[in-house]
Amino acid sequence: MKAEPVPVIAVGLCGLGTVGQGVLKHLQRARGDLEARLGVRLVVRRAAVRSLRKVRGVRLPAARLTTDALAIARDPAIDIVCELIGGTTVARQVTLAALARGKIVVSANKALICAHGAEIFAAARRHGGHFLFEASVAGGIPIIKALREGLVANRFPRIFGILNGTCNYILSEMAARGTPYARVLAEAKRLGYAEADESLDVQGWDTAHKAAVLAWLAHGVWVRPEQMIVEGIERVAPADFANAAALGYGIKLLAIIERDYARGELSVRVHPTLVPAGSVMATVAGALNAVSVTGDVVGTTLYIGRGAGQDATASAVIGDLADAALLLRQGAGARLMSERLAPAGECRPAPLRHIRCRYYVRLTVVDRPGVLARVASAMARSKVSIATVIQHAAERPGAASLVLTTHESDEQSLRSTLQAIGRLESVLEQPLLLRIGDFADRR
Ligand code: NDP
Ligand code: HSE
Repeated sequence: MKAEPVPVIAVGLCGLGTVGQGVLKHLQRARGDLEARLGVRLVVRRAAVRSLRKVRGVRLPAARLTTDALAIARDPAIDIVCELIGGTTVARQVTLAALARGKIVVSANKALICAHGAEIFAAARRHGGHFLFEASVAGGIPIIKALREGLVANRFPRIFGILNGTCNYILSEMAARGTPYARVLAEAKRLGYAEADESLDVQGWDTAHKAAVLAWLAHGVWVRPEQMIVEGIERVAPADFANAAALGYGIKLLAIIERDYARGELSVRVHPTLVPAGSVMATVAGALNAVSVTGDVVGTTLYIGRGAGQDATASAVIGDLADAALLLRQGAGARLMSERLAPAGECRPAPLRHIRCRYYVRLTVVDRPGVLARVASAMARSKVSIATVIQHAAERPGAASLVLTTHESDEQSLRSTLQAIGRLESVLEQPLLLRIGDFADRR
């Protein structure tokens, strides 16, 4: 008896860079397994690139390559459009053109979702299409499915974690081996972890985009960039790792999303954070990501895995392609459980005075009597109480490095303190402020 032909689903890959090549490679490699699991064959019919001449590590007949990504989005023969170009211009056009035709779009593009998410999801609903984006947050960790499906019974007072592989790679290499910042960043780029514009990584914006996506999934509101605190890792110096270690901490770039349900307030912030040396977060090294989700029903759950790079990201994209194939098999009108939105409830941005923690402040000061007293009285005027003081000789002749930690205070008080300290003539450089994330010890 002749076997039934396997139905074919046509995929258009827009972008064949780090992630696009990973998707093609693993679709080709795992073809048999995927066919057995899904009951369909996923075939890459066309792919769009910027340069047709570039040598790539994957094989696709030249006739299937184009430089016109929009032509793929509009092609009636393509069922699923995979947007792996990045950025917010061509990527947005491709996404909206495909959704306008009722297609399914699979994306890894957190910058696009953060800037145009409301428009994109409205277009998907209006035209009966779907927009799937598992790869946009935490690389290979299926955190979006976890939040929207596995944890659907929960409200989320706190979600926090390491969401940028490039920054975590840089911070862990600097801490473990003292490798200079510029050299580790170049290595992260070579390994395919960094964004095309790496300032998005090191200035904290890529993490902020991912935090906004998680906040939207958990709380149903789009937090705008100006409503977040976003600080990157560029000013963290080798001395800060030594100071943090002496205090019993490591340094990680964390995203923190906290909802105070009683007050109806939400805060989203991204900053280098001192995490307790014995905590799980402190052990998450290299390009790994980790997300801690506290739900009111489940308690705290923790997800760790590769957060950047070709293979981990391809795994998440192919997971979405599998969901897309399922939707196409079920026919028009089918929806995934994970496409439902969380209700927002009352959810205003938290004012700075309600965002509280302990702080680490590093100052470069003139090394002479009375300077510490002037710094301490500037802090006292803003009601910020000093917990510990460490003083070292600074590299500059005649200068000292002063490291202060505070008792619990709030963002507003720290801002006025830093302004006052910055005005002191004995303070030689802009102070460095790091937050102390004692909560990171709670599992
Ligand atoms: P790359 O820069 O490696 O790849 C981008 C691809 O898009 C290249 O193939 C490029 O062509 C193509 N391209 C660029 N502009 C156009 C255009 N106008 N028309 C057609 N093709 C174009 O990026 P990544 O693969 O690293 O990232 C892709 C997306 O995935 C981004 O949104 C990124 O944020 C996201 N992401 C990346 C991760 C990673 O670890 N790298 C992890 C998770 C998400 P050409 O090759 O000819 O230059
Ligand atoms: N540049 C990103 C990172 C890629 O380093 O985490 C994964 O989103």
